[in-house]
Amino acid sequence: MNHMDETLLTDFENQLNPACPDLSGIPPVILGFGEISTTFAIPAMPGIAFKRMPPFASDEDIADYQKVVMQYCDALRKKAGIAVAPYHFHTIHNRDGEIILYISQPRFPAESIGNTLLNKADEAKLAPPVRTLIGHLFSLSRTNRDHPDGYALGIDGQISNWSFQANGEALYFDITTPMVRVNGKDQMDPEIFLKSSPSFLTWIIRRLFLKEVLDRYYDMRLVFIDLLANFHKEGRPELIGPMMALINQNIAEQRMEETIPLLTRREIDNYYRNDARIWRIFLAFRRIDRFLKTRVRRKKYNFILPGKIRR
Ligand SMILES: Nc1ncnc2c1ncn2[C@@H]1O[C@H](COP(=O)(O)OP(=O)(O)OP(=O)(O)O)[C@@H](O)[C@H]1O
Ligand SMILES: [Mg+2]
Repeated sequence: MNHMDETLLTDFENQLNPACPDLSGIPPVILGFGEISTTFAIPAMPGIAFKRMPPFASDEDIADYQKVVMQYCDALRKKAGIAVAPYHFHTIHNRDGEIILYISQPRFPAESIGNTLLNKADEAKLAPPVRTLIGHLFSLSRTNRDHPDGYALGIDGQISNWSFQANGEALYFDITTPMVRVNGKDQMDPEIFLKSSPSFLTWIIRRLFLKEVLDRYYDMRLVFIDLLANFHKEGRPELIGPMMALINQNIAEQRMEETIPLLTRREIDNYYRNDARIWRIFLAFRRIDRFLKTRVRRKKYNFILPGKIRR
């Protein structure tokens, strides 16, 4: 990671206009929009990617959250052998008295990130990265089956969450939702995101962290379905068939059928239709919420929203 300038990050935060990032004192380069965090680069620190979290209610809440992120990343590395991108935490008390957490990571080249790869790849090019993911997700599936020390781990295995290195390794970087359970108990308290967002959006954030919603990230069969269904959104549905065949072949060869029954095309397509609907509704709600806050109540809007996205 190149030089990190905390003073500059503080200036950036204090001049940030989350509702219209382009109008900020130091305009960011947006790298990605998340449900919870937004990832961007600051031109003066080009090698670093920053994830900005919604405000926390207290320093203690930030400390708790950081502890769980560390616990999650350590467990992914040590228990499942997944390479997690390095990260650092930066807490800023901004001029509005809010407590904002940034997570910095090395900024990976766009060409290395799974969705860029997917957009350009054919079947032959995509097979090796998908094989790497199969290895990681099988390993995670075994961890969750054997749960060493009572641990179970969830992962959002979508292709857009990995940076594929020249040596064939895949680095996982989507770490802002730490999905770790010890003896069945979620280690993160989702309420820490809710305390500071007193709006009608809280129900949807709560939904995002509902046990049933999170459960699907602990079930590697559903993680594979999610990974493949996303090829629709990325405009490459023709690659679903061949990659599903590759995954199924590995499930059979490595005798994983009991934990991961073979995938079917119909489930993938049905899943996509449902998922796309949920997120369209979610984003529509957020736009209304932003409108109410910035135009009607003239309050600061603390999430950065994407424009219209194709699903
Ligand atoms: N370290 C990084 N370097 C380069 N680009 C990144 C980096 N981290 C994230 N991005 C870009 O931003 C996108 C979204 O980031 P990420 O997957 O971490 O969060 P998310 O899934 O959008 O957010 P959330 O988990 O909060 O819902 C990625 O798909 C990628 O294109
Ligand atoms: Mg992501």
